[in-house]
Amino acid sequence: MSADLTRVNALHYLAPLRAGGSVPAIVETDDLGTYVVKFTGAAQGRKALVAEVIVGELARRLGLRVPELVLVDFDPAVAEHEPDAEIQDLLRASAGLNLGMDYLPGAHDFRPGATDGPTIDPLEAGRVVWLDALTGNVDRTRANPNLMVWHRRLWLIDNGAALVFHHRWSGAAAAVDRAYDLSGHALGDQHPDVAAADAELAPQVTEELLREVVALVPAQWLEVEEGFADVAELREAYVRQLAARAAVSERWLPQHFATEAELRVAEAARAKRTAAGRPAWLQQVPDLHGH
Ligand SMILES: Nc1ncnc2c1ncn2[C@@H]1O[C@H](COP(=O)(O)OP(=O)(O)OP(=O)(O)O)[C@@H](O)[C@H]1O
Ligand SMILES: [Mg+2]
Repeated sequence: MSADLTRVNALHYLAPLRAGGSVPAIVETDDLGTYVVKFTGAAQGRKALVAEVIVGELARRLGLRVPELVLVDFDPAVAEHEPDAEIQDLLRASAGLNLGMDYLPGAHDFRPGATDGPTIDPLEAGRVVWLDALTGNVDRTRANPNLMVWHRRLWLIDNGAALVFHHRWSGAAAAVDRAYDLSGHALGDQHPDVAAADAELAPQVTEELLREVVALVPAQWLEVEEGFADVAELREAYVRQLAARAAVSERWLPQHFATEAELRVAEAARAKRTAAGRPAWLQQVPDLHGH
């Protein structure tokens, strides 16, 4: 794998993606590519882009599907035709390097609970949950899954809310073994096999691998804050934090997913409630949802 993210130049600003809180945009570039661009000038700040690179590239190296990430050199002049004044402010504040994620044509947002969704095996679900728990991603919920379905497979997008610790480095040490709150995870009902994912992934998250992914973050996105001498020290802090957390996965590994038996009991109770709520003449008709 190459040592740097590919750099491309924005040619055409096609459309804003208003569904995203940071108002990313679909942009065409000089490599004949189309990318979803996340801007440095967004309210989420550069740290969201730092998290996108570190977590996205780590996920890719652990075998999860993540669209290619590139660095997009953006000249606000390519979006002069965009009429929205707020978006213009965002774009003018984003001259220079921004993050691009390969645009997945025809993909749609993953919908938890949809009956026509992709088949997700428990190990794959476990890997996603494990990654989110390692990186403290608070933004892969049923309400906002930040997962897409493309060619009937699951793709991870939007890892910008991970690495919560980098918003307050003074508390980072205390977060190394902090349990991850899984309530409402987008894949919580997919029987995620977190233990199997842990056995497979934890040994792979070495300092060496982390150094490789942290090195991909452009220096200008890394603000040297109090407590760090320079950017190199800041990079090393990310490496040590994530390596330390990966090494104690038994302390934060989510344990409390419902077992198959518990899910069956809950399902039976739900069916009973549904039946009880039916008018008398419907009480005898089987509830097809509960099989
Ligand atoms: N690579 C992609 N290909 C196709 N569509 C995408 C891609 N990335 C994002 N989108 C679409 O844009 C929407 C917003 O993207 P994303 O979640 O990354 O933005 P965001 O501003 O970080 O959102 P939020 O913070 O509100 O979750 C996605 O829900 C998806 O529909
Ligand atoms: Mg999102």
